Amino acid sequence: MKKVGFVGWRGMVGSVLMGRMQELNDFSSIDSTFFSTSQSGQAAPEYVTNKTLQDANSIAELSKMDIILTCQGGDYTSAIHPKLRESGWNGYWIDAASTLRMKENSVIILDPVNRKVIDQAIDSGVKDFIGGNCTVSLMMMALGGLFENDAIEWLTSMTYQAASGGGARHMKELLTQMNTLGQTFTGMDQDQASDILEVDRIITETMNSKSMDTTCFSAPLGGSLIPWIDSPVDLGQTKEEWKGVSETNKILGRNQDNLIPVDGTCVRVGTMRCHSQAFTIKLKKDLSIEEIEKMISSHNDWVKVIPNNPEATRTALTPAAVSGNLEIPIGRLRKMNLGDRYLNAFTCGDQLLWGAAEPVRRMLNILVN
Ligand code: HSE
Repeated sequence: MKKVGFVGWRGMVGSVLMGRMQELNDFSSIDSTFFSTSQSGQAAPEYVTNKTLQDANSIAELSKMDIILTCQGGDYTSAIHPKLRESGWNGYWIDAASTLRMKENSVIILDPVNRKVIDQAIDSGVKDFIGGNCTVSLMMMALGGLFENDAIEWLTSMTYQAASGGGARHMKELLTQMNTLGQTFTGMDQDQASDILEVDRIITETMNSKSMDTTCFSAPLGGSLIPWIDSPVDLGQTKEEWKGVSETNKILGRNQDNLIPVDGTCVRVGTMRCHSQAFTIKLKKDLSIEEIEKMISSHNDWVKVIPNNPEATRTALTPAAVSGNLEIPIGRLRKMNLGDRYLNAFTCGDQLLWGAAEPVRRMLNILVN
């Protein structure tokens, strides 16, 4: 049995991963060791093979593993991965953090989309397999059929990203903000138009007052939105927006010569853990909506085409419908009045499942099996 070490199993992504692995009985086919940066020597959870937590900063202990899977975050990766490689460790490193994603000798993992790229990488001796940006992974799960058929000339993705993308504290901050706002209005009994203007004035005042805790987001998110995610990069883009083009093409194994242009505005909205995206897609040729739906829905087991009508959209194409499950609905599919080759689409996906934990869980299984 392969010796697999886990780091960062207690955080939000790690906890979702542990839940999925237990649900699917993944631990039965590995010899598992859990590592901790602060509690080595203490007892590991009962489902783990080795009952004592090991030191996540010990290169000697980590080196005993065939595979290390980390959800500990970028700082840990930056501190430990180089030392481990310099020590001569030649095992597989699977990582949910972005640190190593764009390195030449790493592969971004999303096997329903790029299993061939992954298999070729394993064959050629690549050892670092890194989970993609959540928004990119969710887009590619939704549009995989169009990418696979090379049907896309370019696309824009306008995102509606959940608080969970920032982390657990950000989700809690969103709720405290909603609570602060909610407390200013407690009933539906004010029924005059003039009342609602007064309620709205109080809400706006509260939103911009010190009583809103904005420690994590640096702006009110409850009742508002923030059209900026992550740090600035070149040409006025945010890093999150830059990942759209760079990671998409790396996942597909494309380079500068055959790059698919991807761009858009990434926006944080007040949802909990489900990222949504609106696409404008320039097709390479004029495909019918039936052909497009067939390409999309036949690509993987999780994508689901939602009919472009109000009932189906409200039932199945919202964060409320998708949170906590692996389905990737895509709907609002229609040709735009910009021309026959312009396709409109909208998708939602759970940011912690296909956006984070599931690709790394599946990569572990690829290596183990
Ligand atoms: N960067 C993403 C976000 C989450 O802020 O929503 C991680 O992929």
